[in-house]
Amino acid sequence: MEFRKLSDGFGMEVRGADLASLDENAFQEIKNAFYKHQVLVARAQQLTPSQFLQFARRIGPPEPHVIDQFHHPEHADILILSNVEKDGKPTGLADAGTYFHTDYSYLEVPARATMLYSIQVPKKGGDTLFADQYAAYEDLPSEQKAKIQNLVALHHYGNRDDLDKRSRTVASVLSEEQENKVTWVKHRVARPHPVTGRTALYSVSGSAFGIEGMPRDEAVALLDQLKRHSTQEKYQLRLKYGVGDVVIWDNASLLHSATLTDPGDPRTLWRITVKEEGKP
Ligand SMILES: [Fe+2]
Repeated sequence: MEFRKLSDGFGMEVRGADLASLDENAFQEIKNAFYKHQVLVARAQQLTPSQFLQFARRIGPPEPHVIDQFHHPEHADILILSNVEKDGKPTGLADAGTYFHTDYSYLEVPARATMLYSIQVPKKGGDTLFADQYAAYEDLPSEQKAKIQNLVALHHYGNRDDLDKRSRTVASVLSEEQENKVTWVKHRVARPHPVTGRTALYSVSGSAFGIEGMPRDEAVALLDQLKRHSTQEKYQLRLKYGVGDVVIWDNASLLHSATLTDPGDPRTLWRITVKEEGKP
């Protein structure tokens, strides 16, 4: 296996690794690189749905997405992201997550890692943006670190900055039945990473709608200020996909955003999200 940094900051790619047949030593190397570098890309994989799922299970327990109409027919733990239509019907979820957010931050036990397996790459665009929330936290002035140290944010499924259901940057719209499954949960704003122990700003963009014990206007103003800080270009990495690439990212230390593609330019990804072991 050959590792190469994706930027001066975070992100690592590995070539020459077959995720379907990693022995324990090779797997540990991959896992350590994932926690250390936050984004790990294994290039040019050839995986069946079962092999992809088996690899994911080595990182954590998969949690099926609340949007259940695009689960893979063989494995509900795989969500199909696609703009391709068949017989006039969508084959997957299109335009998902095109704003900075963290996966499953609206759940009590949130996502440890999200894995995307790139099946069909569009001619143009379709990159994923990541923002390093360890660095964003570390750069805060010490007074602000002290101010947010014990704050707890209130999270709900959705995008705080776009609640218009017709917009392409709204969180994917839920059916009434799906909406009934999501509720309010709490997570620390400055959250210690459950595996590395390092503190990161957690999900200040996306699902955070308020702060416990703080008037709503004040809370939103603070969250907006933290979002502007933590999504600055200096914290970002832009990832481009090749066919067969598998990207694994650390949701506890990153924000990420999909980028919009031309609806007529086919792109398909398979996604598995594995959750943390329990509430830290
Ligand atoms: Fe996402």
